[in-house]
Amino acid sequence: MNIFKFQNDEDFVQTGANLVASLLQSNPKAVLGLATGSSPIGVYERLVKMYRKGLVSFAKASSYNLDEYVGLPVDHPESYRSFMNKHLFDHVDIDLSRTHVPDGNAGNLADECLTYDKMLEKEGPADLQILGIGSNGHIGFNEPDASLSSGTHVVDLLPETREANARFFPSLADVPRQAITMGVGSILKARQIVLLVRGAEKAEAIRNAVKGPITTQCPASLLQSHPNVVVLLDEGAGQWL
Ligand code: GLP
Repeated sequence: MNIFKFQNDEDFVQTGANLVASLLQSNPKAVLGLATGSSPIGVYERLVKMYRKGLVSFAKASSYNLDEYVGLPVDHPESYRSFMNKHLFDHVDIDLSRTHVPDGNAGNLADECLTYDKMLEKEGPADLQILGIGSNGHIGFNEPDASLSSGTHVVDLLPETREANARFFPSLADVPRQAITMGVGSILKARQIVLLVRGAEKAEAIRNAVKGPITTQCPASLLQSHPNVVVLLDEGAGQWL
């Protein structure tokens, strides 16, 4: 793992954006694995700026998002499809038909998971997977457990995850109880993984992920087994590393 700690936000977002932009410059048809959450927002905003300056194009790229809430209308402001539109897709030249976010409103969620995996298998693996980490060590919505699923699946969100995400909803009761997430196996297939982590509340999770034992109780620790992981941390997140 290559771990970088940044004292200022400018360097954090520029480094993350440069990793994506240089991939797209060398491989315009790259498959991007994308993540939501507050940590990648600055990187997406910087990519939009770089696109407006003609420094990067998404015209031939395709994308696969990690996860989506179950049962949230797709146009709900907190759906991950809305998040991606708002922070990236609406502002760059990506072909929306080549952007993929699991459908959390599919009539048959098991079929939706299989379809998502089939598309990923056909087009993937991702050339670059952007990731965040939950304060309990989750990646995507792969929650700590005695065992982890490899492929895309439906998960019951843990109380701590719903509480952490309640800040985006009117109340805790409004936070969905389930999500669809790519599995850890799919995530680990990406050629390169860029883990973006901000905030002191993530310090323990990221220390466990990079320095702790590899365990399904900290899903992000499985990243230690991947040969090409770049970890970008702000000062708060990196304080114990
Ligand atoms: C949500 C997402 C995760 C993301 C996490 C971290 O739980 N499902 O994929 O990694 O948030 O969020 P943040 O970047 O806000 O710390």
